[in-house]
Amino acid sequence: MPVTNSQSGTRVDEVAEGIYRIHTPVAAIPGGFSFNQYLLVDEDPLLFHAGPRSMFPLVREAIASVMPVEKLRYVAFSHVEADECGSLNELLAAAPQAEPLCGSVAAMVSVNDLADRPARALADGETVSLGGMRVRWLDAPHLPHGWECGYLFEETGGTLFCGDLFTQPGAEHAPLTTGDILGPSEAMRGVMDYYAHGSAARPLFQKLAATRPKTLACMHGSAWSGDGERLIRELADAVAPAAS
Ligand SMILES: [Fe+2]
Ligand SMILES: [Fe+2]
Repeated sequence: MPVTNSQSGTRVDEVAEGIYRIHTPVAAIPGGFSFNQYLLVDEDPLLFHAGPRSMFPLVREAIASVMPVEKLRYVAFSHVEADECGSLNELLAAAPQAEPLCGSVAAMVSVNDLADRPARALADGETVSLGGMRVRWLDAPHLPHGWECGYLFEETGGTLFCGDLFTQPGAEHAPLTTGDILGPSEAMRGVMDYYAHGSAARPLFQKLAATRPKTLACMHGSAWSGDGERLIRELADAVAPAAS
């Protein structure tokens, strides 16, 4: 059964081979909202987004429905915020071999102080093998926010863990959709502009698009399946249009 906690509505769905989306609906904003974490099940399992500290029992329960929590090897995240790494230390305590995995700026500025164990800090373009899968870190400072911001791309299956990009409002979503996520995320940006609008946004979007992802693993809302290169370029045109 995909629902792992009937009270919160937390559920787990496989959205790409070996990649599980943990989804919890919340009432944080009018109309509802949601938080996702992604579990990559491999020899060295990785969780992308620790989730808020208040959600740790739900996330632990959801992971345990797929694999033993203590086997987690990496807890990775895009940038330093509660929904990205709020329960990092709880997860490190639950999984003795686990390390924080993040960009080098995040490790230097925050994580090596906040976390109970040192981070494995990744340079832009650096890869880590999880066994069958391999993830690559992509620096994306200030896209959408946070100097330390970056993303992971899983190279063997083509999944981009795109964090807050394509943030969709609402509490209930299909786990994986081929429908429109750009429209809803742009509508949300219209009322809550969470972008830093840094000067390098457009080339950073182009760098992400160049991975040609088949799946976009969004933190808020549905994961998406399709031509990720095209959709990221459309998002770039909406957020950071080319100078005319
Ligand atoms: Fe964020
Ligand atoms: Fe977020």
